[in-house]
Amino acid sequence: MTEAATPAIACRNLWQVFGPGADKALTDALSRSGNDADKAAANLREKGYIPAVQDANFEVKEGELFVIMGLSGSGKSTLIRCISQLLPGTGGEIHVDGENVVGASKKALTELRRKKLGMVFQHFGLFPHMTVVENVAYPLRVQGVSRKERLARAQEVISLVGLDGREDSFPRQLSGGQRQRVGIARSLAVNPDIWFLDEPFSALDPLIRRQLQDEFLRIQATLKKSIVFITHDIAEALKLADRIAIMRDGKIVQIGTPTDIVLRPVDNYVREFSKDVAKGQHAKVASVMRDGEGERGPDDPGLTTAMTLDAALAHCMELYEPVPVRDASGAIVGTVHPSDLAAALQVDET
Ligand SMILES: Nc1ncnc2c1ncn2[C@@H]1O[C@H](COP(=O)(O)OP(=O)(O)OP(=O)(O)O)[C@@H](O)[C@H]1O
Ligand SMILES: [Mg+2]
Repeated sequence: MTEAATPAIACRNLWQVFGPGADKALTDALSRSGNDADKAAANLREKGYIPAVQDANFEVKEGELFVIMGLSGSGKSTLIRCISQLLPGTGGEIHVDGENVVGASKKALTELRRKKLGMVFQHFGLFPHMTVVENVAYPLRVQGVSRKERLARAQEVISLVGLDGREDSFPRQLSGGQRQRVGIARSLAVNPDIWFLDEPFSALDPLIRRQLQDEFLRIQATLKKSIVFITHDIAEALKLADRIAIMRDGKIVQIGTPTDIVLRPVDNYVREFSKDVAKGQHAKVASVMRDGEGERGPDDPGLTTAMTLDAALAHCMELYEPVPVRDASGAIVGTVHPSDLAAALQVDET
């Protein structure tokens, strides 16, 4: 395997069950159900256990922005607490950069969390008695980095999140959005490979929230971290994600690109999330394109794979025959029938 192919995170049959003697209860439930995860989870629930994460299987690729979405209580936070080993996990495997972290020594885990992982939480308490720059530099202080070096690094990430000039402010002197920026800067201070963000923007009002999302995407475009981002806002998920995992009652019910989630929901729970989303603004031409040459008409309205369905349809208003689609380099990579564009936009209108 080449290095690039090693996923940043890989979870196999990951379970987190809450309740006394959960390890044994899970082993029993699995053996009694013949390793059927749904049956085992139901069995655990009957006995009063909470299977907060049920048999999770997924990979986060290097540089990927992986969003976990689901209703309150569906297990999102528990899942990232398992991955970062803040919770021991009840069963399954977790690999971070190819290394098995289940059962790793305390020392190794502390190293992992301090150097490899960055975390931002919704109400991540900043230290009220420390200034912005001291808060941001704090993780480096814990690592024993010299004062001069850590202040220089703190300044760098403070600029990155747009807080120049506020270095000496105290948290109480900042707005909610500014405080979240400090939290983001602090999580980036150690330059982590993997970045966990648990509903970092949920408490903010919509305008500030959108602003921070845009900045977050801008930062990610330069840093290219491997990211697990939790939200229960579908619009936020669709805007940010390379791929989205949808959780329900501890179970990942669907993993897919934003287009998959919007156009091909696996069940009503997923469909419910995307119900109010304007599909045409999120789904891309690539999702309805047919590969290869195909039969094409004479027109070439200039469609590209990355164009939204709305934009594509606007280009094809008067066309009735299949048209070519180009990739970013201008090469023709497939064909789209204008009627497929229209049909894709009506998936849910019954
Ligand atoms: N330490 C714990 N002990 C017992 N049960 C727990 C513990 N932590 C979480 N749970 C339970 O696990 C389930 C999943 O909780 P979790 O916090 O992961 O949900 P969530 O999807 O992050 O929700 P929210 O969107 O509200 O943050 C819930 O039923 C919760 O009550
Ligand atoms: Mg949570």
